Amino acid sequence: MARPMALATLVHPTGYHTASWLHPQANAQASTSIEHYAGIARLAERGLFDLFFVADTPAARTENLTAFSRMPLFMNVFEPLTLLSALSGMTRHIGLGGTASTSFGEPYTMARQFASLDHLSGGRAAWNVVTSANDYAARNFGLDRLPPHAERYARARECVDLVKRLWNSWEDDAFIRDRAAGLFFDPAKQHAVHHEGTHFRLQGALNIARPPQGHPVIIQAGASETGRDFAAQTAEVVFASETSPGDGRRFYTDLKGRMERHNRDPDSLKILAGMPVLVAESAQEAEDMHAELQALIHPEVGVARLSMDLEADLSGLDLDAPVPEERIPQKARFHQAYFDHIVGMIRNERLTLRQLYMRYERGNRTVRGTPTTVADIMEEWFTGGACDGFMLMFNLLPRDLKGFVDSVVPELQRRGLMRENYAGRTLRENLGLFRPPHPAAG
Ligand SMILES: Cc1cc2nc3c(=O)[nH]c(=O)nc-3n(C[C@H](O)[C@H](O)[C@H](O)COP(=O)(O)O)c2cc1C
Repeated sequence: MARPMALATLVHPTGYHTASWLHPQANAQASTSIEHYAGIARLAERGLFDLFFVADTPAARTENLTAFSRMPLFMNVFEPLTLLSALSGMTRHIGLGGTASTSFGEPYTMARQFASLDHLSGGRAAWNVVTSANDYAARNFGLDRLPPHAERYARARECVDLVKRLWNSWEDDAFIRDRAAGLFFDPAKQHAVHHEGTHFRLQGALNIARPPQGHPVIIQAGASETGRDFAAQTAEVVFASETSPGDGRRFYTDLKGRMERHNRDPDSLKILAGMPVLVAESAQEAEDMHAELQALIHPEVGVARLSMDLEADLSGLDLDAPVPEERIPQKARFHQAYFDHIVGMIRNERLTLRQLYMRYERGNRTVRGTPTTVADIMEEWFTGGACDGFMLMFNLLPRDLKGFVDSVVPELQRRGLMRENYAGRTLRENLGLFRPPHPAAG
């Protein structure tokens, strides 16, 4: 096999579909059930997934609760590092990735938490570096609103750089625990960090040994120019949100091309195409399963989700008329790709508001069909140079992940696209990423 396909899954408690929690097969307690998450992680491990990933925003909504009370996402969830730490003891192979925002946290705390997770899990930790994209999270951290995009990324750069330096606080073999000599560590192998920057000041060393992976894997999902440059400089996994193999290829070539400027080998970054998938025994069954969930979307939820991604209040508009042009903002402040997608649909397809929210699926349209169809589409993306693997989303969990593991994984293996076993012990080894050597190592 030239290079095996990398597989990750983004896990929202009952599934990626906004109405999944209403489905009779959903576990209504899922969002705070460790057993539920462990079941999903183990299932993904059975399917040889490289990475179990939880997204995050550090805030509950406090406004427009009539609509948000019908949308549980991020309203009652575990803090990611806490959840992943618990899962590290309940799984053996799968990588454990979570989001932490550089716009609010302190580098020391983040470095310490991810180093701890990497130790707890035996080298399976990954950090999704985000700059956050909403003001209601900012308000929980002493800010009235998020700083401008460029400033958030400048802070992110400084933060990631500092976190990596903190992970190098100690050489790999610093903790000698030499009882005969009475030395717990070798003082020559500590490398304290002295930093006076624009956003952070720090003098000190991390109080935990260098992580098993050297550095936990850095994930990034920025879509903007600045986001892509940042990814080219620091990311080792990127979640892409292009919606066609052609756009995927352009993104892939662009991002890998940008890495040269940072003296990085293109293979040291794995681009995973975001893809919601739904597999069933027949194409019709897959359509029916999708339609069943779509029918559960309450109009207030449909309109609120569109309003969020279009960054405009669409409430009160006629559901059965097109969105008036004057409601469309001049430009996006938060998610450019989502914004562009909705604006494109409004302008080019002249859909009614109801049709728009029923059609809009945030990012990629759900790939649905038989195991062969789903494997064909994945193969086209993968062998066509549009990605190194996939960040899969499943409408309803665990049902749709199980369907995928039982039917598409064996099909991908049969085609020689997926391996038969985990390749290594750590997430880096499984993804084929090199372990960063300590700068002081000869
Ligand atoms: C698969 C995926 C997962 C993401 N997870 C998060 C998340 O957990 N928290 C968050 O604030 N943003 C998340 N984002 C948003 C990105 O971090 C980024 O802000 C967004 O793609 C806009 O790009 P830009 O910041 O370069 O404009 C995610 C994006 C994708 C595609």
